[in-house]
Amino acid sequence: MKNNHPQTHHVLLTGGNGLVGKSLTQALLREGHRVSHLSRTPSIIPEVTTYGWNVVDQQIDARCLDGVDTIIHLAGADIAEQTWTPARKLEISRSRTESIRLLYRLMGQRPHAVKSVISASGIAFYGDRADEIMTEQSPPSPDFLGTICQEWEAAVGEGKALGLRVVIFRTGVVLTKEGGALASLVPMIQSGFGASIGSGRQWVPWIHLQDVVGLYVLAVRDPSLAGVVNQTAPGLLTNRQFMEALARHFNKPLWMPSIPAFMLKLMMGERSAFVLNSTRAVPQERLLQAYSYQFPTLDKALSAIYASPVDGSATFAPFLPRM
Ligand SMILES: NC(=O)c1ccc[n+]([C@@H]2O[C@H](COP(=O)([O-])OP(=O)(O)OC[C@H]3O[C@@H](n4cnc5c(N)ncnc54)[C@H](OP(=O)(O)O)[C@@H]3O)[C@@H](O)[C@H]2O)c1
Repeated sequence: MKNNHPQTHHVLLTGGNGLVGKSLTQALLREGHRVSHLSRTPSIIPEVTTYGWNVVDQQIDARCLDGVDTIIHLAGADIAEQTWTPARKLEISRSRTESIRLLYRLMGQRPHAVKSVISASGIAFYGDRADEIMTEQSPPSPDFLGTICQEWEAAVGEGKALGLRVVIFRTGVVLTKEGGALASLVPMIQSGFGASIGSGRQWVPWIHLQDVVGLYVLAVRDPSLAGVVNQTAPGLLTNRQFMEALARHFNKPLWMPSIPAFMLKLMMGERSAFVLNSTRAVPQERLLQAYSYQFPTLDKALSAIYASPVDGSATFAPFLPRM
């Protein structure tokens, strides 16, 4: 008789306490997978075992690999929150590259059952590209974030020499009420002083958090998924269209003139790239066939995010630790 039950996995997450990691942990547990974290702080979810590591000192609890068949690598120092001093740039890079190398070195030193490594990267790989459509084959940007993404993907890709299946998601701007882009844009819109940014013509490669989680879960259970994958929604919009949709959703006018690019550059320096860059990174046909998006359009995403206390998913609510 055919066994229709999905195969369960033991997944080790780095960065499991972060914005994506918390929701992903809950989704994996709901699917019946076992979840461990490799982290600097213990998880508050009782079903999760946390193992400690320190990337700077290259210390890692060797037991973290026990029974693990899949690693999901989300760890990385926050890119948006602090000024990019040389020391911060080094931390942004090393927390993504030296972390996964630490795990690979451990795998070289002891027997293990790891078959797959699934990692985050970012659409910042492509940089500022006007209306050009970015596929996974498009060349990288030479700017700081583009270089970080290349180094990150190269470090993760070293797993192929260890015989691992490697999946790399180039993630767009993750939308959730819990933090990230919407948490800073929505108060502005709600106050009636929202405005588009720069020319307003730059493409915003957004994706709903639940689709980010859904795509990681798919990558865990589908061994045929491999390589680099754009992780964005099908219905991308320009910044102007994005702000108009937000204003419409909250029934507010969008009457203010757009915020000039030079002001943002003065205020944010290099980090203004987050809001000024135009990156039209679209999901590819093979992904659209393998995965059915819960939130393909921004209107649907906003209705879900602002319809209930936690991202419109009642099943998430009892589990999600609040910040
Ligand atoms: N959110 C987005 O819009 C977005 C877009 C594109 C790409 N991404 C990428 O996707 C991944 C997950 O995103 P996220 O929003 O969930 O990130 P997040 O909330 O900032 O969480 C990242 C996690 O990385 C770990 N971390 C931070 N600094 C570290 C350091 N110096 N050394 C080792 N670990 C460190 C932390 O885990 P512990 O506290 O457990 O140690 C933290 O919870 C990140 O790599 C991010 O760059 C996110």
